[in-house]
Amino acid sequence: MAVRVPRDEAELARARLLELAPAGFEEVEAGDTLELAAYLEEQGEDLVRALFGQVSVSSVEPGWEDRWRAFHRPVVAGGLWLGPPWEPPPAGMSAVVVDPGRAFGTGAHPTTRACVELLADLERGSCLDAGCGSGVLAVAAVRLGFEPVVAVDLEPEAVEVARATARLNRARVEVRRADVLRDELPPADVVVANIELAVVEGLLARSPARVAVTSGYLSDEGPRMPGWERAARVELEGWAADVLLADRAGSTAGGNRRARSFP
Ligand SMILES: C[S@@+](CC[C@H](N)C(=O)[O-])C[C@H]1O[C@@H](n2cnc3c(N)ncnc32)[C@H](O)[C@@H]1O
Repeated sequence: MAVRVPRDEAELARARLLELAPAGFEEVEAGDTLELAAYLEEQGEDLVRALFGQVSVSSVEPGWEDRWRAFHRPVVAGGLWLGPPWEPPPAGMSAVVVDPGRAFGTGAHPTTRACVELLADLERGSCLDAGCGSGVLAVAAVRLGFEPVVAVDLEPEAVEVARATARLNRARVEVRRADVLRDELPPADVVVANIELAVVEGLLARSPARVAVTSGYLSDEGPRMPGWERAARVELEGWAADVLLADRAGSTAGGNRRARSFP
């Protein structure tokens, strides 16, 4: 199905559609409007209507499966190759394979890539992937040398998919269902959270880690939380990701300052 939105609403529409079609969508420019074509299961149409209101919704043409495959291209971030199962990773490169058929985050989104870039520069230790979706960041953390790695998500389906991603990659990740705003979270040296800004801020307020890699918001946004200071930022295609260090008394965050600064 395709959603047509005015160009000046494109950024917001992308962010909203990403929630419903985290495996990705195509964009086609059409005059003053932008068409966002997403491949959704049946109930997706109702959700898109509920979210976008008066926008036009139409079925996409046959043959979308091939276009969808062509759309899912591998990316490189933090020295890791992230790609779909049908693409062979380059020899000698550490790979994170994500099946976009059921994925909640394939790795290609700028926020995910930016998180991997920032994780790659941190001192290794234990890691909590908060809002793991497909588990792409948890597996990337394992590949980068973090250990142990725990991944949590609110959605039972995401928990199932993240477990499948860990199995597919033979990566040791413990995946649990948890609401990062309410449930008890395991202590970790680093928490990575690519979620919407309000949830990121709620998580920081109770973070089990003193170093946080956060994303899920645009370049002109960012978490504003007392007790945390920004140590680094990556901006990619209008999205941002940050390394935040807890500056609370007794913080051990100062020990983890390999984070490089970005312009
Ligand atoms: C944008 S996806 C990110 C997925 C993946 N980490 C990535 O980078 O591609 C955000 C995920 O956070 C989860 N989420 C949102 N609010 C949450 C909460 N309060 N507790 C746990 N997970 C949450 C969603 O279910 C979704 O899977």
